[in-house]
Amino acid sequence: MTEGQEEAQVSESQIAVHWREEEYYYPPESFVQQANAADPAIFDRFSEENFPDCFKEYSDMLSWDAPWETILDTSNAPFWNWFVGGRLNASYNCVDRHLAARANKAAIIWVPEPESDEPVAITYRDLYHRVNEFAALLRDFGGVKAGDRVTLHMPMVAELPVVMLACARLGVVHSEVFGGFSGNACGTRIADSGSRILITMDGYYRSGTVQDHKVKADEAVAEAHKQGQDVDKVLVWRRHPGQYASQTPMVEGRDFFVDEVIAQYRGQIVEPVSMPAEAPLFLMYTSGTTGRPKGAQHSTGGYLAYVTGTSKYYQDIHPDDTYWCMADIGWITGHSYIVYGPLSLGTTTVIYEGTPNYPDAGRPWRIAERLGVNIFHTSPTAIRMLRKVGPDEPKKYNYHFKHMTTVGEPIEPEVWRWYHEAVGKAEAVIVDTWWQTETGGFLGSSLPALKPMKPGSCGPAVIGIYPAIYDEDGHEVPDGKAGNICIRNPWPGIMQTIWGQPERFLSVYYEKYNKDPDSKDWHAWPYFCGDGAVRAPDGYYRILGRVDDVINVAGHRLGTKELESAALTVPEVAEAAAVPVVDDIRGRAVEMYVSLKPGSPPGDEMAKKVTRAIEVEIGKIARPKNVWIVADMPKTRSGKIMRRVIAAISNFTDTGDVTTLANPEIVEDIRQQVQEAKLAQGEKPKELSETEVEEIKSFGTE
Ligand code: WTA
Repeated sequence: MTEGQEEAQVSESQIAVHWREEEYYYPPESFVQQANAADPAIFDRFSEENFPDCFKEYSDMLSWDAPWETILDTSNAPFWNWFVGGRLNASYNCVDRHLAARANKAAIIWVPEPESDEPVAITYRDLYHRVNEFAALLRDFGGVKAGDRVTLHMPMVAELPVVMLACARLGVVHSEVFGGFSGNACGTRIADSGSRILITMDGYYRSGTVQDHKVKADEAVAEAHKQGQDVDKVLVWRRHPGQYASQTPMVEGRDFFVDEVIAQYRGQIVEPVSMPAEAPLFLMYTSGTTGRPKGAQHSTGGYLAYVTGTSKYYQDIHPDDTYWCMADIGWITGHSYIVYGPLSLGTTTVIYEGTPNYPDAGRPWRIAERLGVNIFHTSPTAIRMLRKVGPDEPKKYNYHFKHMTTVGEPIEPEVWRWYHEAVGKAEAVIVDTWWQTETGGFLGSSLPALKPMKPGSCGPAVIGIYPAIYDEDGHEVPDGKAGNICIRNPWPGIMQTIWGQPERFLSVYYEKYNKDPDSKDWHAWPYFCGDGAVRAPDGYYRILGRVDDVINVAGHRLGTKELESAALTVPEVAEAAAVPVVDDIRGRAVEMYVSLKPGSPPGDEMAKKVTRAIEVEIGKIARPKNVWIVADMPKTRSGKIMRRVIAAISNFTDTGDVTTLANPEIVEDIRQQVQEAKLAQGEKPKELSETEVEEIKSFGTE
């Protein structure tokens, strides 16, 4: 059978995706000797027949105030409750419990971006005091109590985990918004979570300049107010206590400098509030297919147990390691694998303020050398960028990693090999970890001492996770065929719900493959990840990317609807469509297509207005690569914009059959306009991989 014939007989999601099988790489013996998980019996312990009891092993890694009675309560399926009856405090687990053995060991080493500034080590004892003092301030000056939500809009400074842990100490639910998001995006999240307090910083360093960050707090408070939520207090940390780095005035009676207020709380100790295991610990907002962001609500006991267990086994963290995850704490990776997992294990976690290639591409390797980092964690985008600007930098520095992680996007095998050989000096084991904001911790990864690495595949499912790949009708697809990857079982790290939108939790993640809406049996509730994937015969998964309207830019999820709503805030814009373009560094970039209301002049100014609107509504990370102002959008007869047609134009791939469109003639006009302009800008059509072509071909067809 030829490939064409084969394709004709299967549904779209079953189209075979062929790629070269990569060779296995085996972990160095020195790694295996010291690994936390080196006994293959672990696979039996976490086998499906031992589910859910297997997760007792993770809960045993925590200190509980009261033991749990029921490991998994499914009575309100699919709103799972883990470790029911148990009580604990997350800040106690990440701080207090390490004091006996490690009080004077560094919990955090903070590295300021200016290289002339020394790294700052914060011992567990220091951290304990800082967390207690800020908890006292939050409680007595902020007036918050267990269950209240507080929004944080903080950059990569040590004060951020201090604030998170202070909230956790009180049972207050923190909601950290990525520092690079705009004031408006922050305001929307304040309103959605119902926060009365915003905690921010005056400024921070990024690529050599001080960003005025406080200005965003004013925008955020105004936007939240517009959406019906008033903020009573804005607590402003100063990057240099005593000196204000922002141009924006402080608002009398609303804005307070933390370094001033905290003076009256010096030395105070706040008893950690004993929280039920199922009390929410934090919200982490993420993009979905509609404009309103989704606040993934994570639990105290289940989440903390899951990130502790996976940090121990998959990140191979020991208390004496120096662990550096270069992600931003404003994303789930930072919450789970900079703050909660590593600190729960009592290790040293490094926090770097700035951009990886500032002032040059040797910076990460100088930090690693200087601090003796032995576990390193980053994203394919950072790896691609460092490889492009400084392929020979790593060998100039005398650092040695035992373990490295990649997270957030698929990694190309050749990029993986550079990471392995150049960055890891062929000494380090690599784990490619696939997971999501919603899942709290890893879903797919190799267990580093026990399974070989395979470039381009995240590996098998992690222990205690049982995936299945289904076609559109819920039939499992055979190995080697693409489909929608789902997790058949609940696990302790899964979000509890979408904050304030339980119906969306059900409809987005469960409705598609639920077998019986009344069932209280977990088997009836496969979790739909929203990713396409293929399983190889060895059980390793290759993640193909999102199957919904989400664009993964540099590992950051951007919803097309969010981008389009932002463009539509420009009064002249009549219609907008966002599409992904394959990008050498960032994986994907965004291109916007807009059509204007009659009488509105097209041109560069208008394109800039659209870009500006996206920066204001979302943030600079979402800035489109190009804004194309077109006469009309290609549409179906029912009026739906055919995003896959314009995506194909942006990527120089085949638009496929357009004859059934309502306005097929527009396709050729747009192609000429866009592709000519791109060629004139010096862009060269790229050779796309088969999976990239598939992604573009099916973009926005859901
Ligand atoms: C993608 C980030 C391939 C995937 C932790 C997922 C990946 C989305 C990988 C979640 C990986 C994450 N290989 N793709 N190792 N890790 N993804 O919520 O599409 O920011 O659904 O969580 O990123 O992104 P999020």
